[in-house]
Amino acid sequence: MINKLKFLLFISSLFFSACNKTPGEKIFKDRKFANNKKIVSCSYCHSGGTKLDGVATQSTFDIDGVTYNSIENVINQVMIKQFMQGDPIDINSQQMKDLVAYIKKISIK
Ligand code: HEC
Repeated sequence: MINKLKFLLFISSLFFSACNKTPGEKIFKDRKFANNKKIVSCSYCHSGGTKLDGVATQSTFDIDGVTYNSIENVINQVMIKQFMQGDPIDINSQQMKDLVAYIKKISIK
């Protein structure tokens, strides 16, 4: 009986923590995001906001000698295409907006 109750509590806590995630956080932790062939999420490399310092205020990004003029381009051209081998997403989509809002938020420590 007690074990059953504990199990129920455990399941409901999982349920609530899943519901509390913002849309951006879900995308950030989605291993299937952008049909990527590596089956990794953004969070696989940027767990807890690592390597994202300054993105909330930066407007240009220098990566491997190439300058990108927007965070959306970095995400599409470098992260999704090169690092994750996925399909870039629409720059103006709600998904992109949610993802960018989330990484900006976690980049501020
Ligand atoms: C395979 C590992 C990996 C994955 C997966 C990955 N990143 Fe990155 N990301 C990096 C590395 C490494 C850098 C730093 C590149 C550099 O500065 O040379 C970086 C840099 C960035 C930057 C620029 C940071 C800056 O200050 O210039 C952004 C924004 C970013 N990643 C967002 C994302 C998002 C969003 C995703 C998921 C769609 C993602 N990354 C997935 C490894 C990864």
